[in-house]
Amino acid sequence: MDKKGKILVTGGAGYIGSHTAVELINQGFEVVIIDNLSNSHADVIDRIEQITGTKPAFEKFDICEEDKLEEFFIKHQEIQAIIHFAASKAVGESVEKPLLYYKNNIISLINLMKGMKKHNIPNIVFSSSCTVYGEPDELPVTEKAPVKPAVSPYGNTKQIDEEILKDTAKSDNFYQTIALRYFNPIGAHESALIGELPLGVPANLVPFITQTAAGIREQLSVFGDDYNTPDGTCIRDYIHVVDLAKAHIVAVKRLMEGKNKSSFEFFNLGTGKGTSVLEAINSFEKVSGVKLNYKIVARREGDIEKVYADTSFANEELGWKSEKELDEMMLSAWKWQQKITK
Ligand code: NAD
Ligand code: WQD
Repeated sequence: MDKKGKILVTGGAGYIGSHTAVELINQGFEVVIIDNLSNSHADVIDRIEQITGTKPAFEKFDICEEDKLEEFFIKHQEIQAIIHFAASKAVGESVEKPLLYYKNNIISLINLMKGMKKHNIPNIVFSSSCTVYGEPDELPVTEKAPVKPAVSPYGNTKQIDEEILKDTAKSDNFYQTIALRYFNPIGAHESALIGELPLGVPANLVPFITQTAAGIREQLSVFGDDYNTPDGTCIRDYIHVVDLAKAHIVAVKRLMEGKNKSSFEFFNLGTGKGTSVLEAINSFEKVSGVKLNYKIVARREGDIEKVYADTSFANEELGWKSEKELDEMMLSAWKWQQKITK
């Protein structure tokens, strides 16, 4: 079958990148992955092959190393677009190691964009985050909401990267760019062959829930139930990682077909539904049949009280809408945890 085009997926051995690589291959694209395996394992590439029947080309190196990236672009011709997932993403770690985050998350993008121009690759889809909105003034949050001063170096790197895309595309209309602002990706592929692989103690809610249920963690701490929300716990917009992956295919096709309306576009990727921590726990207990051991503790520094997306722009302009509900997200996360715990 003729391929629909060759796509570079940076960070493609990671959580969202691997799910996106599966969807790209399923939709007939040729995929090449760059990953330095700083937060993932090489066997994910084999798992992508197990799921799709096709093994993507894979090169292991750090895209902050410009000479290696240049060699890569010489070796891999005909790339038509890049989906850029590769970054460091732990908010807490970014506070302790800001220089590592500024280097990794910004130099990687600058190197990619220089290589794009040199090797005639105009299209890039960038992994951004709802963290750029901070605590929104209005909910649900639309793309018109102001970007607020970042509360972590990690969040700041996402804002800076968006500015780099915007300013570069403005200065040179060779570049055609889309930033996708993810809300809270959770869950795993239905095969339970790929999923979120948090190394060390998970910072995020859902892997902590599943590890507690699996007996890896003693007890889940719920960070505060004194917020101004119906049950007192924080509200987020949890979106299934496969729904998120599919949005990337829509975005990259938009650029490749020249349907983007400006050279820097950005979209909120969420479900449009707000879910509290206790609601997430209840959903998990329902679908897993496991009574979760948790306790309410003090608030976590820097937590946003409520954030969930207005998805109408992505729905109407991209023609993309999330499909999976919370229970399915939680069940897929649990099946993945059970698989890796074995
Ligand atoms: P992840 O850590 O699972 O995947 C990132 C991958 O990039 C890893 O496999 C890592 O080894 C690789 N990588 C990191 N730096 C690299 C470098 N310099 N060169 C080559 N490879 C490198 O993270 P994820 O959850 O899949 O997130 C993917 C992207 O989405 C990131 O940019 C992240 O900031 C963004 N994002 C994630 C979330 C979330 O909750 N997971 C939310 C919003 C945005
Ligand atoms: C969700 C809710 C916590 C853990 C972060 C980053 C964001 C993005 C997604 C990269 C909050 C509560 C959590 C726990 C808890 N990452 N919680 N006990 O903070 O919304 O977003 O991950 O781009 O940038 O900020 O996600 O999963 O950490 O927390 O009670 O052990 O669960 O207070 O209300 P968050 P999270």
